[in-house]
Amino acid sequence: MAASSHYATTFFLIFVIALGVAGGQKNHLSAEDNKVLRNDYETLKDQFENFVKVQFGRLSEEVQQLKLKVQEQDLLLASCKSQFGREAKELDNRVVLNNGAKVGLETKSGLPRTCHEARLANPSLTSGVYWIDPDGQGVGEDPIQVTCDMSSGITFIGHNSESAINVGHCLDPGCYTRSIAYEASSRQISALIELSDECRQSIKYECFSAPLEFNEIAYSWWNDKNGQAQYYWSGNNNATHTCQCGIDNSCVDSNVKCNCDSYAPSNLSDSGEITKKEDLPVSRLNFGRTSPEASSGIHTLGKLKCSGQRAVNGMPTSCTELWQIGHVLSGLYLIRGVSQVETVYCDFSKLPTSKGFQTWIGFTDVKSSPVFFYVQRDTSYLTTNSVVPFEVAKLNVGNAMNIATGTFVAPRSGKYFFALSGISNTANIHSRVQLQLNGVSVGRGVSHDLNLTFSLQSVLQLRTGDQIRLFLTDGTIYDDTNAHDTHFVGFLIEEGVFQ
Ligand SMILES: *[C@@H]1O[C@H](CO)[C@@H](O)[C@H](O)[C@H]1NC(C)=O
Ligand SMILES: *[C@@H]1O[C@H](CO)[C@@H](O)[C@H](O)[C@H]1NC(C)=O
Ligand SMILES: *[C@@H]1O[C@H](CO)[C@@H](O)[C@H](O)[C@H]1NC(C)=O
Repeated sequence: MAASSHYATTFFLIFVIALGVAGGQKNHLSAEDNKVLRNDYETLKDQFENFVKVQFGRLSEEVQQLKLKVQEQDLLLASCKSQFGREAKELDNRVVLNNGAKVGLETKSGLPRTCHEARLANPSLTSGVYWIDPDGQGVGEDPIQVTCDMSSGITFIGHNSESAINVGHCLDPGCYTRSIAYEASSRQISALIELSDECRQSIKYECFSAPLEFNEIAYSWWNDKNGQAQYYWSGNNNATHTCQCGIDNSCVDSNVKCNCDSYAPSNLSDSGEITKKEDLPVSRLNFGRTSPEASSGIHTLGKLKCSGQRAVNGMPTSCTELWQIGHVLSGLYLIRGVSQVETVYCDFSKLPTSKGFQTWIGFTDVKSSPVFFYVQRDTSYLTTNSVVPFEVAKLNVGNAMNIATGTFVAPRSGKYFFALSGISNTANIHSRVQLQLNGVSVGRGVSHDLNLTFSLQSVLQLRTGDQIRLFLTDGTIYDDTNAHDTHFVGFLIEEGVFQ
């Protein structure tokens, strides 16, 4: 760069001098001068032409070199491109398995169970055919291929009757019948439906003088996943025969619930979406009353569409929730019960809707704060209308009992057992000892005479912080260092973990 700008400057100066010499003082020059000048000019011209030739040679050499460099870089770029292409293709081969179905590679636990799950694991996945395994990878049935709409995470399961199919001509109810074969087993479909937040399937019936129901005779119905006949063609209310126009009050004939039921000789149609998960997928379609040649009925059944995932908030409370958060190995599990931890057996070879999926075993003994105490007195206690304190703690696990004040404070909610006994120190009078919960008597033990026993046993539901005391209302309590006649015992039977 610096070199070529230097040449350019030189060339410019020579040119200016040449101009100046050639034309500057023309009018005052003699013939001799002219000749000298002409020679000079010729010399300069030769020099200039030489200079240009040399410079041009240099420049074209440089251009040539640059051209070579560009070619070199083009080659390099091409090789990079092909290398990258190979790698991209290898990557693609890893993603695209047989039949072009993709696997959501990024899910850490392997195959996703739904398109929703695949999308959650890797939001950059594109829509297409994917392998998923709704009933869990490594258990149950083999993975299935489905279509995923990755913009919304919807799973589509196709079947053999997706195109518009003409039911032909026949008269009796259900004289046309067509069983729907899905591109996945019923177990995998049930698992997908159980996992999903929402499932739906569209049904369209295009009719010409072909009612679904006429004169209170149902000519057409569909069968739900259990084979049960259903007469609702949209929504989730299985109680009545209706189509979407019946739900919207927009049928061509306001006296009927479906456009087709108007039995009109015109091209009508009913389109709806079944949204009752318990009934999906549609297992069979049945139509009738299309017998006159002029009548016609055409059905179109959409793919099964499932979206979202049932949320499990906090600790699982059932095998179903354990399964929803991803457990697939059968076994004993702990779940959150109403107030306690519970043990259940989950048979994940079954589906949540099947009998025997969850077997309840029992409550689980969980003690976050063990409480066991046994306290005694060393001396007689004679002060009526006061809390009885203690002098000896044989056992005080958890330190919930304060012997000096005679106050027990429940460290946790739960069911507690208490027992007290002692003997009276006074003849001919009643000695009475109350068991008090937060200062209120729960019950009392009474002794009628000297050396006779008072006692009381109790099981109480306590809340954290509740206080238990013995309170002497009448008489006296006998004790001495050798005898230890007074006993107060308490322990936590069952903790209310979730109370
Ligand atoms: C309709 O749905 C209810 C509630 O899901 C169910 O108990 C009933 O058996 C269903 N009836 C039919 C005919 O499927
Ligand atoms: C109904 O639709 C069919 C098929 O598209 C057409 O041939 C026929 O003319 C239509 N009938 C009426 C009454 O519009
Ligand atoms: C009461 O018990 C004490 C100690 O065991 C005994 O010495 C005393 O004789 C008893 N009195 C009666 C009236 O039984």
